[in-house]
Amino acid sequence: MTPADPAGGQYDGSVDERVDVSVLVIGAGAAGARTAIELAEEGVDDVLVLGKRGHGDAHTTWARGGINGALGTHDPEDSWAIHAADTLNEGHSLNDPQKVETVTRQMPERLRELDEWGMEFSRTEDGEIDQRYFGAQSFRRTAFAGDHTGESMLNTLVERAQALEVPYRENVMITRLLSDGESAHGAVGFDMDTGESVLFNAGAVVLAAGGYAAIYNRHTSRDDENNGDGPALAYEAGAELMDTEFVQFHPTGMAVDEDDPEWAPWSGRLVTEAVRGEGGRLYNTEGERFMERYSPDQMELDARDVVARAIAKEVAEGRGTDNGGVYLDLSHKDRAFIEERLPRMYERFQELGVDMAEQAVEVAPTAHYGMGGVAVDEHGETSVDDLYAIGETMAGVHGANRLGGNSLAETVAFGVVAGQRIADRVDGSGDLPGGFVGSVVEPHVSDLKALADRDGEHDVMAVFTEIQSVMWEHAGILRDEETLQMGLDRLADLREQARDMDVGPITSDSFEYAVDIGFMLTVAETVLRGALKRTESRGAHYRTDYTETEANWRRNIYYARADLGRMRSYTRGIGEPSTEVQAALDENHELDYHQLE
Ligand code: FUM
Repeated sequence: MTPADPAGGQYDGSVDERVDVSVLVIGAGAAGARTAIELAEEGVDDVLVLGKRGHGDAHTTWARGGINGALGTHDPEDSWAIHAADTLNEGHSLNDPQKVETVTRQMPERLRELDEWGMEFSRTEDGEIDQRYFGAQSFRRTAFAGDHTGESMLNTLVERAQALEVPYRENVMITRLLSDGESAHGAVGFDMDTGESVLFNAGAVVLAAGGYAAIYNRHTSRDDENNGDGPALAYEAGAELMDTEFVQFHPTGMAVDEDDPEWAPWSGRLVTEAVRGEGGRLYNTEGERFMERYSPDQMELDARDVVARAIAKEVAEGRGTDNGGVYLDLSHKDRAFIEERLPRMYERFQELGVDMAEQAVEVAPTAHYGMGGVAVDEHGETSVDDLYAIGETMAGVHGANRLGGNSLAETVAFGVVAGQRIADRVDGSGDLPGGFVGSVVEPHVSDLKALADRDGEHDVMAVFTEIQSVMWEHAGILRDEETLQMGLDRLADLREQARDMDVGPITSDSFEYAVDIGFMLTVAETVLRGALKRTESRGAHYRTDYTETEANWRRNIYYARADLGRMRSYTRGIGEPSTEVQAALDENHELDYHQLE
């Protein structure tokens, strides 16, 4: 972007503030907080955690149903290796087996640690950490705090970080990483309250900035988060993205009357899988428990992609509600049970006038999670030295589809791994390479100032929501070549419109959304390109013109920046699981749904 000053003069690209730290953690959810805790415990004291919102307010607070770890509270035969096997099965073997092992081996310890730090886990009568059924898991492995697991976990991590005096700065938006393509040196952004530009010079940078599910118009994320900023920042800095075509559509988002002002804001919001894990049943408008037809053994707790496609089919064939959903019913359970196990769901629907103890709720699939993201090594480091990506920003753990409860697990497991690696290697903030400020930082700050208050033809929110519609319509639950190609064409038009938008001041929502649009366009292009390139169906990626899973497509697709801003992609094969995990795979464990009845 070249600044064009309407007044004809030069924009001033000077930076308002400079901060030097050893480690800059971008993102203040569970992944960022756990990394910072590890660094502090390892004695790295000048770490700075940046959040786009207030302290303790991150998307993690919206994670509901639970966090996986083979504690074996109810099912002592469970093990980390079976957890790994379930994760690989759900990921249709597209996961990196080593990363899966890194997460699943650690999780019992990570859960006990959260418990020690005061997390309010729901407990059994014996006082053990309770564990519930979650989709496609062979045993009850999902630990939980009612249905507010993410909120409880983040509160615990924030308290721990505060006890360790980890510095935190709120309301900062990062717009560019400082990288020469070989190594990272920090980041540039602005203070969202004052509009002042800030240069962060850092010895290592950790992107813990979430995923990209909110590039879809029906999604479970907060509207202004998960727009792909983490992956896009890494890509612009020279790191590679991987497997972004794998987008998880959670089967049960709220299906609402979009014309009803009380209900409309809830469209697509998560109805936690825990409702089904606690016995919730799905019915179509003919009163048929339709999962009996699609998955008689695993029923409502089959893999998310299977249940989401089943609901979509019921609706498409005319057995859905007027709001385009089906019914999720838990009314066969006692009110006290629902209130205790699912308090937030119960309260939310009570406030909307629906009593879950008496009535079913309406649900339909919604974009929930990006399995793809930034390609990283076993330590969470990208192909750019000293640049790490963890949590939902990174790719590799979940393959073609994610097990519910594994996202919170990944945040803390890779937070520890990346934190330890950085602690071993970082040595102060380092110096910015000569000339970097003049050649990279100041032009970028100048571009930001030029974007603010710009009088353009296109409305920011119109472009933003149109990108989301393109993704839903062209790269949704069912895909084919023609639709995907049309999506790429529409995206190209939107890219043109984004060059000529009417933007508010730097502290406005409009400015934030205008910056997000740049991130969304980058990631959306990789999703569409990957979905087009992958001529098979696997997990969450379902091509109606290539319905089979192809053994020779057991490959990850990578995206890298090429000359002149072009996008290059290539594929690479995947390693094999360890003998322990292979043995667990060979044992063929699977969920027996009917134990729930
Ligand atoms: O449904 C849920 O509570 C979601 C959990 C997850 O995606 O891990």
